[in-house]
Amino acid sequence: MNDPSNLHEPVLVQTVVETMAPCFHGLVVDGTAGLGGHTEALVNAGAHRLLAIDIDPEAVQRLSERFKENPRVSVAHASYTEICATLRSHQQDHAQGVLLDLGVSSLQLNKASRGFSFQRDGPIDMRFNATGGRPAADLVNRLPEPAMADLLREFGDERRARAIARQIVRDRPHRSTMELATSIRAAFGGRTRINPATRTFQALRIATNGELQAIENGLSAASTVLSAGGRLVVIAFHSLEDRIVKNIFRTWAREGVGQILTSRPIQANVSEVRKNPRARSARLRAFEMLGEG
Ligand SMILES: C[S@@+](CC[C@H](N)C(=O)[O-])C[C@H]1O[C@@H](n2cnc3c(N)ncnc32)[C@H](O)[C@@H]1O
Repeated sequence: MNDPSNLHEPVLVQTVVETMAPCFHGLVVDGTAGLGGHTEALVNAGAHRLLAIDIDPEAVQRLSERFKENPRVSVAHASYTEICATLRSHQQDHAQGVLLDLGVSSLQLNKASRGFSFQRDGPIDMRFNATGGRPAADLVNRLPEPAMADLLREFGDERRARAIARQIVRDRPHRSTMELATSIRAAFGGRTRINPATRTFQALRIATNGELQAIENGLSAASTVLSAGGRLVVIAFHSLEDRIVKNIFRTWAREGVGQILTSRPIQANVSEVRKNPRARSARLRAFEMLGEG
């Protein structure tokens, strides 16, 4: 198996470790463990026990391999929205820290057969967990044009949503990511834009995986398992995700559930972005549950 550290460069590692450090005496849950970059950094920095969760069976297989000789790390195949049941199945009912590093891993993005990338030819799949749900091709080839335009606007912030939806419907059926990307490009009528398919692919991925609903449900579930003084750290990669996290943290703070630790989201510095361009859009927010007494 390839070295996992070559397959996905984790973002904002130092900030994650420093923010989570006060939780190291208890169980820390990495709810989107992916290739295990953050998990490993947390364990190396002194976290006593770590539960690494991912919804993608391939990621889970790699995580199991990577940590098979580390008794401090357990691995589970689950959605972070099921954190309560997953803890119970590991004979736990509370966690001291929960990390969610949202979005897609480089492993998923770079593998053509997963269908996440408009730069690689593959089936239009985009499921984090290909053993359930329906592939993005169902939306691409079946959604009525107005609903497609709404989807692109809502989940992709795409200003040319109507033109793209019209073109996608006109060019059906789409059998591959490249066919779809070509169709999207045609809707831009030759006008230059770096990657015209970026927002459409993002929107389809979010809809296919129900990602925004998962964030809301996952944050709510995390708040029920965190111990007094426990911390929740969330890294978002676009404004839709970040807005949900910001609003939920603000609501919790107003309700007296605990305190926001990041008055502004923390971003990667120039040198990290130079080394890892994916870090450019990362926004980290952290929340601490009310302590005892
Ligand atoms: C940005 S990657 C995380 C990378 C990881 N922090 C690392 O260092 O390798 C996001 C991961 O979240 C996973 N994921 C997405 N939705 C999920 C969900 N609802 N529950 C659990 N994992 C999820 C994806 O499969 C992907 O592996």
